Amino acid sequence: MIKLDRDEAARAILTRNDRGGYTVPTDRLYPFQWNWDSAFVAMGFATFDVDRAYRELERLIEGQWDDGMIPHIVFHAPSDTYFPGPEVWGTRHRIATSGITQPPVFGMALRHVHEAAVEAGLPNAAERTRNLFQAALRSHRWWLRARDPDGLGLVAILHPWESGSDNSPAWDAALARVPTSTTTAIRRKDTGHVDAAMRPRDEDYQRFIHLVDTYRECGWDPQRQWAVAPFKIADVQMTAILARATADLIHLAEDFGWEAERAELSEMHDRLTAGLARRWRSHLSRFVSLDLVSGEDVEAPTQACFMPLVALRIDDAQRQAVQAEIERWHEGMVVGLPSTAPFSPAFEPKRYWRGPVWAVVNWLIADGLRMNGLENLAQRIEQTTVRAIERAGFCEYFDPTTGEGLGGDTFSWTAAAYLVLGRRAKASASGARR
Ligand code: GLC
Repeated sequence: MIKLDRDEAARAILTRNDRGGYTVPTDRLYPFQWNWDSAFVAMGFATFDVDRAYRELERLIEGQWDDGMIPHIVFHAPSDTYFPGPEVWGTRHRIATSGITQPPVFGMALRHVHEAAVEAGLPNAAERTRNLFQAALRSHRWWLRARDPDGLGLVAILHPWESGSDNSPAWDAALARVPTSTTTAIRRKDTGHVDAAMRPRDEDYQRFIHLVDTYRECGWDPQRQWAVAPFKIADVQMTAILARATADLIHLAEDFGWEAERAELSEMHDRLTAGLARRWRSHLSRFVSLDLVSGEDVEAPTQACFMPLVALRIDDAQRQAVQAEIERWHEGMVVGLPSTAPFSPAFEPKRYWRGPVWAVVNWLIADGLRMNGLENLAQRIEQTTVRAIERAGFCEYFDPTTGEGLGGDTFSWTAAAYLVLGRRAKASASGARR
């Protein structure tokens, strides 16, 4: 009974954050359409309204650039509660958008929504899937062309915001090399909505905006940006999500019999999984990103280090190492998985991506663990995520040391995670009883 009410509350959040076919992450703090938030939200909608799930993806694609990039923000309607707005980005797409991207969960969401549509017998599903599939394919081509020009099998981020983990300790060393000077006047709005102690610091913001200024001066041309980027990291989280989304698109291409697309995607998939596999470090029991400016491994222990599991089949030794490492990150925590390891000097349990637990991260990590035969650990992470949300509400993220809900409340992707993971937790509980 209580469960049902919570499901209703989750659906109500998605409905309340709906601005006409697209969903804002939360009111005021994030008043536009965000790329990877919308992909998760589409999967949440698919649990009760598949037509609306497709709409979410279709509206995101309205912001897709001619070169294939799907921007990290689509500014469908004006709002003065967020900085930096369209005037700072100065992009030239027909709808105002930011000039950078975000993790391509889109392809994963498309397969998910398509399967829900087939199950529900939704009319026009095949046609809607085909259009979105073509958009996804164009974006994956953009990723490889623009962000892996040297064929490493790893895609790079040029801005921490692209990673979706804005102020992660993974970027500290690389970001420290970025100047704090800006041509844009910084007018932070986020700290008017949320306690500054939980948000990125002012100095981080100066560097974030320095990067935006630099790329805007390149006219947002990918080659010019690549040539001058003072921040360039071949990111294992981004690459893993891209590889996994590629596998999901391959699945759709097979279903529909699109042979040329299947072959092209398979080549991409081979390149990305080979690149990822080379990033395993057995002495750390983790995968590591590569700083393309310094040439050094990024050894900061963050959630990104386990993300390759969503894309790779790891071997027995790796599986044991990952399991032990994830258990270690949970020691003394009320809720896992912390976005930064608690034993790291960079760990701050309340500051955004420097420690807090994020429901959508757990969703992906649990998927990866399950794919690699670590079913019990996957279930544990899913169930504790669901319980954390039930205790603290649909918050943006959670303090792992106390379980307290933090950041913006009534968050769309937390509601979507609850709808999807809640079903899985229920299914595994009834499986266990059988
Ligand atoms: C923050 C998060 C990012 C998310 C956005 C909207 O920038 O770091 O991952 O997409 O908020 O929720």
